Formats: sequence, C-alpha cells, structure tokens
Amino acid sequence: EHKEKLEFVKNHIDSYPDFPKPGILFRDLFSVLRNPRAFHALQDVMIEHVSSQLTPKPEVIVALDSRGFLLGPLLALHFHIPFIPIRKRGKLPGDVTRVSFALEYGTDIFEIQSLSLGSGQNVLIVDDLLATGGSLNAACQLVNQLQATVLECLVIMELVYLKGRDNVKAPVHSLIQF
Ligand code: PRP
Ligand code: ADE
Repeated sequence: EHKEKLEFVKNHIDSYPDFPKPGILFRDLFSVLRNPRAFHALQDVMIEHVSSQLTPKPEVIVALDSRGFLLGPLLALHFHIPFIPIRKRGKLPGDVTRVSFALEYGTDIFEIQSLSLGSGQNVLIVDDLLATGGSLNAACQLVNQLQATVLECLVIMELVYLKGRDNVKAPVHSLIQF
C-alpha cells in the first residue's frame, strides 16, 4: 500500500524542461499539492516512513525555505513536536545562527533562530528535493552548530544522477527517485 501511494504521488509530479534555466528538468512539488488525493497520499507516506522506519523518533522537525515549509508542518502536527524553519538570510528575527554555502554561482546564507533547538535534541530535516545536496548539508551544519543531532534528512524527491547525498554528512532518505 505504501508503494502504491508512492507511485500515485510520483504520477502527479509534473516535469518542466529548461526551467528555470536551459538544461534543468524542473520537478514541480506543487502539481502534487494541487490534487488533494495526491497530497494526502504524500502526507501518509511521510508519516509512515517516520513511524515505521526511523529510530529513535525525532523530537523536532526542521524544514528548509521555502518548499520544505509545506511539508515539515504535516509531520510536526501529526507527531506533536516543534516545527522549526531554516530561512535564507535576513528573514528571521532575534539571535540567529548562520552558515554560508556554495551555490552554482556564488554563495548563499541560511539562518536558524538560536533559541529554536536544544543541545542533544534529535532532529529530522525535511525538504522537497535533493539536487546537489548543498542546501541540506548547510542545514545539517546549522543544526550541529546548535549542538543538536540530525537523525535523518527526509526528501520527497532525489535527483539520483547528481549524487547529492554524497555531499550531505547525515543519513538521507528519499521517497521518490529520478
Ligand atoms: C530548491 C529545493 C531544495 C534545493 C535543492 O530550493 O527546494 O531546497 O533547491 O538544491 P540543492 O540540493 O542543489 O541544494 P530553492 O533554492 O530553489 O528555493 P525555493 O524552495 O525557495 O524555491
Ligand atoms: N531544485 C534544484 N533542482 C531542482 C529541480 N530539478 N526541480 C525542482 N527543484 C529543484
């Protein structure tokens, strides 16, 4: 049943050649969210993964700006645990911890509110898609800077041919592979 739900979700992912740049095949999460049955199936498979395949259980859900914000709260509410955002620079108030990381061209900065994680907490990081792994690895660094532990990085889609998981210094689990 898990496998059939995953297949159903995968069949609802629209792909756009040469977006946003020539040579990129864009995998659109929003085409899943547009269909309530597909969105519900996606929620089910995420929850089933955490319930049956992840030990110990996460104490906090951390998700990445911006598409991760559509997914992380589904798990946080279901498991009654905190939802914590990682945002691009300059968006979060108060004391923040930051990390700078490489993009295709230049660098970017991610931030997390320093009070949002406690030392030793077990964290599940959630995002929609793993490409080069630069974003997820920066997220892992932020969690570690606050002395918390990344149990796993969970993504809906993995672009396997980019080998991004080799750049992430934490276990990566993907639900759908391209
Ligand atoms: C996309 C995607 C991931 C990231 C993956 O986000 O949602 O977060 O890229 O790429 P990587 O593995 O090469 O780091 P994007 O930066 O486009 O931001 P958005 O979610 O705000 O559109
Ligand atoms: N982020 C990085 N690469 C992507 C792709 N091919 N589709 C959707 N989001 C992405």
